[in-house]
Amino acid sequence: MSRRPTNICPADPAHITQAAELLRAGKLVAIPTETVYGLAADARNDAAVSAIFEAKKRPTGHPMIVHIADVSAMEQWGQDVSTTARQLAAHFWPGPLTMIVKRAPGVSDVVTGGLQTVGLRVPAHPVALAVLGQFGGGVAAPSANKHCAVSPTSAAHVQNDLGEEVAMILDGGPCRVGVESTIVDVSEPDDQVHVLRAGGVTIEAIEDAMGRKVLIGPRKQSKVRAPGTMALHYAPMAQVVLCAPEAIAHTARALVRDGARIAVLSDDPSAFDSKVLALPFPQDASAAAALLFDQLRAADKAGCTHILAVLPDETGMGRAVADRLRRAAGPRS
Ligand code: TXA
Ligand code: MG
Repeated sequence: MSRRPTNICPADPAHITQAAELLRAGKLVAIPTETVYGLAADARNDAAVSAIFEAKKRPTGHPMIVHIADVSAMEQWGQDVSTTARQLAAHFWPGPLTMIVKRAPGVSDVVTGGLQTVGLRVPAHPVALAVLGQFGGGVAAPSANKHCAVSPTSAAHVQNDLGEEVAMILDGGPCRVGVESTIVDVSEPDDQVHVLRAGGVTIEAIEDAMGRKVLIGPRKQSKVRAPGTMALHYAPMAQVVLCAPEAIAHTARALVRDGARIAVLSDDPSAFDSKVLALPFPQDASAAAALLFDQLRAADKAGCTHILAVLPDETGMGRAVADRLRRAAGPRS
């Protein structure tokens, strides 16, 4: 397959300025954030935001996160912002926390998927913040991968998935967090925090900051459609198989015997024979999160048919890692 020469650019001041200009011109730019790379467009430009859906092959009507340069821009996008939302912003922004708040008048249906709410986040990445600062407005940015595929944590991942569709990929190096932001719904004045997606900010950290418990899952009356919360998402080509720790070596051997090409995510690659592609996957959940998507992609690149993994303990960052692994292993058509 012929490919255009790479459009990965170093994130130097000249390219950051150019990225802001491209956004103003309604173009798509891939930008690094601390979680994953985002496919960015001017959130006030409906045609540009529509181009995101087209590039990702994402069904229209899914809401997008609007990235802002700092908390003071919250009022331009949200209204009736609750005390709880303000506290969380003060505590976790810039950072991997997306807050769903009531949308301000004039925020487009294209960005919000027609919902009366909008997702807001101030990313904690110097390049993302520099682009947002120079651009001066809100930037709609879903993860820069094809719909339902594995999120990108490097510029090369974006080039591989969307190299033809973006005007520029700003290279900010590998993403530090490696899984997407935690999404909380704080759109009602009741001060409840509903966690819609586990991610880079742990539930424990939110509860510590708030001094009270959060609720897991959407509000009862919520009509939210969130692709990140669908059964099959973040899926590599290879079938992900979740194993009990004591069963993983045996399962790998049995699949190899059947002619499968196996990758395992393991903190002890030496436990597997050479027919198995053993991909390092640390016990420490934050370190595992930073590697997860790169390893899923590595298994696909090596032509593996199956990826075997053990779910981490579901505390701290383990929740987000387990969530992504479960969805990657989800039923497929
Ligand atoms: O870390 C992240 O959040 C990355 C980086 C680029 O910031 N972005 C990201 O975007 O993961 P995306 O579009 O791949 O996932 C955002 C999720 C989607 O599941 C979307 O449905 C949900 O956020 N979302 C956005 N706005 C929403 C809203 N108003 N109500 C409920 N869910 C919303
Ligand atoms: Mg995504």
